[in-house]
Amino acid sequence: MKSTPIIYLAPFQGITGYVYREVFANHFPTVNKFFTPFFTNVYKHKSFEKKGKEIEKTHHSSCPVTPQILSNDAEEIIRFGNFCAGRGFDEINWNLGCPFPRVASKKRGSGLLPYPDLVDTILSLAIPKIPIKLSIKCRLGYHSPAEIFNLLDTFEAHQISELIIHTRIGKQVYKGEVDHSSFERVIERTKLPLVYNGDIFSVEDYLILSEKFSSINKWMIGRGLLVDPFLAGDIRNKNTSQIESRGQIIRRFVEDLYYAYRKSSNDRLHSINIMKELWEYLSFSFNFSGRVFSLIKKTKSFDDYEDAVARVFDEYEWLGSQSKQFNSSSM
Ligand SMILES: Cc1cc2nc3c(=O)[nH]c(=O)nc-3n(C[C@H](O)[C@H](O)[C@H](O)COP(=O)(O)O)c2cc1C
Repeated sequence: MKSTPIIYLAPFQGITGYVYREVFANHFPTVNKFFTPFFTNVYKHKSFEKKGKEIEKTHHSSCPVTPQILSNDAEEIIRFGNFCAGRGFDEINWNLGCPFPRVASKKRGSGLLPYPDLVDTILSLAIPKIPIKLSIKCRLGYHSPAEIFNLLDTFEAHQISELIIHTRIGKQVYKGEVDHSSFERVIERTKLPLVYNGDIFSVEDYLILSEKFSSINKWMIGRGLLVDPFLAGDIRNKNTSQIESRGQIIRRFVEDLYYAYRKSSNDRLHSINIMKELWEYLSFSFNFSGRVFSLIKKTKSFDDYEDAVARVFDEYEWLGSQSKQFNSSSM
């Protein structure tokens, strides 16, 4: 029998920061690792101090956190790795997956994938000077899925601790088909510890993939967990709550999160905007998801927002990922 799957919450710039991870871990102790959204431009010690709490805690509840860096500068990665080691972290993650043209065009994120020599040079300089593990989160390539096959030897030679692959190429950004056959060939080609990432939106999606990739036991889930925070527990058989009581649990989760954002921002109205970003995903778990999101989206004050949330939970039904309303072309 297969052992319980290991599930990581994928990093999301603007959503899965310190506050989200802390509240998520309290309500849903069902994931095995968190990642910070990427850090960038870490040139001086001061740049770390400014990040404050974001890089303060090595665990939320008992779940470990891995800080992530987006860079093509070995010195910057070394500085980041040493800072994180000093703070008690045991791993950093190098982002070779960010697809956005303003990042990729500067040979950062997935824009580095077509340059295996440059990746090799950066790893050769950085790895010996970082006292903790370095894992990589990447895509299959930027222009083509052939690119990953020019990188595997380098990743192996430098003994990276884990390779997380989002099974698209950079040019697809987050849309279009995931490429399972290339991932299958990666499994055949490498002995590195692999983590699958891409389009797991329901238990059924997971079951299909776990059958297809029977040697894989580590999965990173992003949008699927933003839409339905119960998903990791459902996959791992760790949830005890029935679907009828889940609306109330989600209600307490979004209320705690909202107050935590207000507290951490000294009651700035911006807390509502951060909540709206999450609601863009969460609304897909309700019946009439479009109506749910438009109620939340138009709020402009704390009172408006609180009234809208109360209406959502009083008038709409939580269906979770079973509603199957979200897919990669949803947003
Ligand atoms: C708005 C947004 C922000 C993201 N921020 C990050 C990030 O900071 N670091 C990272 O490695 N990936 C980031 N990602 C990618 C996700 O971590 C994940 O790889 C992607 O959503 C695919 O997984 P999924 O299909 O399970 O959602 C981001 C994605 C989106 C849509």
